[in-house]
Amino acid sequence: MSKQAIGIFDSGVGGTSIFKEIHALLPNENCIYLADSKNAPYGNKSASEILQLSIKNTELLLNKGCKLIVVACNTATTNAISYLRANYTVPFIGIEPAIKPAALNTKTNTVGVLATKGTLSSHLFHKTSDLYASGIKVIEQVGEGIVPLIESGKLYSDEMRDLLVSYLEPMIREHIDYLVLGCTHYPYLIPILKKILPENVSIIDSGSAVAKQTKAVLIAHDMMNTTKASPSIKLYTNGRLEVLNTLLNHQFETSYLDF
Ligand code: DGL
Repeated sequence: MSKQAIGIFDSGVGGTSIFKEIHALLPNENCIYLADSKNAPYGNKSASEILQLSIKNTELLLNKGCKLIVVACNTATTNAISYLRANYTVPFIGIEPAIKPAALNTKTNTVGVLATKGTLSSHLFHKTSDLYASGIKVIEQVGEGIVPLIESGKLYSDEMRDLLVSYLEPMIREHIDYLVLGCTHYPYLIPILKKILPENVSIIDSGSAVAKQTKAVLIAHDMMNTTKASPSIKLYTNGRLEVLNTLLNHQFETSYLDF
């Protein structure tokens, strides 16, 4: 059991931001990553379409023998994780916008959340937001267009900068002091975001928390890989390999897979 891989999936290449955190914290673990770039973005799809795609990715990872699945996608987590947990026996780790630390620490009482439409409109997001951010002004912004630009290799482009400026300026005017990144593609934007945001605005993403949670669940289920052999790491995309390889700095084994 312990030698079986951790399965990780996302609507595309963004979840590699989570994969990197997991690999850094759990270097012995074998990992299989699926980038469903062919179907990106998930964020504008209906809840039932997001669920169907999440089931497809889960079953592929289970067929490859994964012992635990990380849903490295806020949109898939907020729309599908309860179903997945109820219908499959492996443990699932999800990711949601980290509203709680932002709401607990804000001094201006105003925080921004940048996420997909599918995440911001989900029941789970509203539940978390009501629970932790009552009395706090939460400015929700759909990051329309961001994921397609990253998926097409235009991370560092004028188009991206202009889009981000248009999303952040209203938040800056309202004096946010925390910006919550609610999509696993967005950590790749941090160098650009830092140039746009005032210095007092902290950026929060949940990647390292997901890695710590993955470790805790592996320990709790006695599933940690204790062998010292170097791990097998495989990343599959049904989209453009060079986009995946660029985000990974060409450091891992990647292949095209039609799924
Ligand atoms: N990485 C996905 C997320 O965390 C992007 C969603 C999309 O494809 O729109 O939400």
